[in-house]
Amino acid sequence: MKPSDKVRSSETGKIKLKVSYKQAGLTIAELAAKANISEDTIKRLLGTKECLNGVERWQVNKIAEVLEIQPTDIVDPKDWYGQNSLPPEFESLIAEKTRTFCGRRFVFDTFEQFIKANPCGYFTIVGDAGMGKSSIAAKYISEYLSPCYFNILVERRNRPELFLKSIRRQLIDRYQLLKSEDDDLATLLANVARKLTAGERLVIAIDALDEVEQEPGENLLHLPKNLPNSVYFLLTRRPYNPDKKGLLVDVPERELDLRDERYVDFNHNDITEYIQVVLKPDSGYQEGLKKWIQTRSISEENFVGELAKKSENNFMYLRYVLPAIACGDYNDFDLKQLPKGLQEYYQNHWVRMGMEAKSGQLMEGILYILLEIGTPIPCGTIAGIVEKDEYDVKQVLEDDWVEYLKKQNVEEEICYTIYHASFLDFLKTKRQMDSKRKIFQEVNQQIVDYLQRKIAEKEDSGE
Ligand SMILES: Nc1ncnc2c1ncn2[C@@H]1O[C@H](COP(=O)(O)OP(=O)(O)OP(=O)(O)O)[C@@H](O)[C@H]1O
Ligand SMILES: [Mg+2]
Repeated sequence: MKPSDKVRSSETGKIKLKVSYKQAGLTIAELAAKANISEDTIKRLLGTKECLNGVERWQVNKIAEVLEIQPTDIVDPKDWYGQNSLPPEFESLIAEKTRTFCGRRFVFDTFEQFIKANPCGYFTIVGDAGMGKSSIAAKYISEYLSPCYFNILVERRNRPELFLKSIRRQLIDRYQLLKSEDDDLATLLANVARKLTAGERLVIAIDALDEVEQEPGENLLHLPKNLPNSVYFLLTRRPYNPDKKGLLVDVPERELDLRDERYVDFNHNDITEYIQVVLKPDSGYQEGLKKWIQTRSISEENFVGELAKKSENNFMYLRYVLPAIACGDYNDFDLKQLPKGLQEYYQNHWVRMGMEAKSGQLMEGILYILLEIGTPIPCGTIAGIVEKDEYDVKQVLEDDWVEYLKKQNVEEEICYTIYHASFLDFLKTKRQMDSKRKIFQEVNQQIVDYLQRKIAEKEDSGE
């Protein structure tokens, strides 16, 4: 993108521009003089003068610099950074996490205050599994098109070198950095900082520091101790032991713990809003939910309030339970009997699927294979490991466990992993409780046998 390329202001940008120059105590003529551009250019951005071709990027930069706002406050980030500025590897995840996003204004506002109060720094959102940390990161990224990285343990996308490679590519593309292919993060940030105009900032969002895998010693993902001015990191992680923080820095830092008492009402409101959204006509679940509510002769208000309590402010809980109620899975339950909290939901579902009663069946084996393998795996490989027909395995994956799995295309093959880290944790607790149980030994033996068969096949075919 060249400084002379043309852009237009967004509808919110027009308002933001008007508010900002007034707040700065300037008239249009004074702003034009300070930014060294014409009054007509400002009027075009304000929408009070026709703007057929747009205005040049450098002019927006000048105005933003004078008013100490972001160019993306005036121009939609999608137009400012170009259409495809979300990293393709995270595009579908971001779309999925933001599809029915509700609330969280208090988090974004607190982050904004942190930015305003500090020249640079690290801001970390802490919260339990399923409280919505990744979704908050995804929402921020989709609005500001921030460079980003999602650590995903179940996909083995969680090592410092992979993070650096991805962020380096994103920064080089966005800021047209030259000869930076081998630069480390600190050098890249310094080079970007040099290109930022006054008032402009760089926010890099990184999700799930708790899922990072690296040798202890240095900062997680080798995040730098010092940052240049106007550079911020928005991080998320599960609650952690202070000894294992893995992030020693010499710049301002702040944590927002979603579990903090002071956010109880905010969390409750956001959760309530989400239930109300799902009760609306286009959610796909309205009919089933309303039927469930009516059959029990309870008011919708009561349903929303009680379910919000049951959810323990956990979005992941609702993501499972609302569709399950709608499709009749809880027809034999009343409001009071619904599981309390995410872990009880998993355990409850586990029992209802008959996993305790008929331990050792194909359904259980397949889950443990997904747990043990830990990377996306095709149906055919699972069938090979359990030595069962691929059709039967596919049925289990697509019918029994569908809401717990993520399907993705890897090198032209449909592969499966466990969708959410909280379910992975649940399965791990089963393994810890029961590591001597026959099924775990069997699954591991089946994996070893399968690999040995594959090696032998390769040797036979002379590869
Ligand atoms: N603000 C929100 N509005 C609507 N849905 C949400 C919101 N936050 C989370 N969800 C839903 O809940 C699910 C779980 O949230 P998310 O994955 O963000 O949790 P998390 O805190 O990152 O959990 P983990 O620590 O296990 O990674 C999301 O996939 C999304 O469907
Ligand atoms: Mg997450």
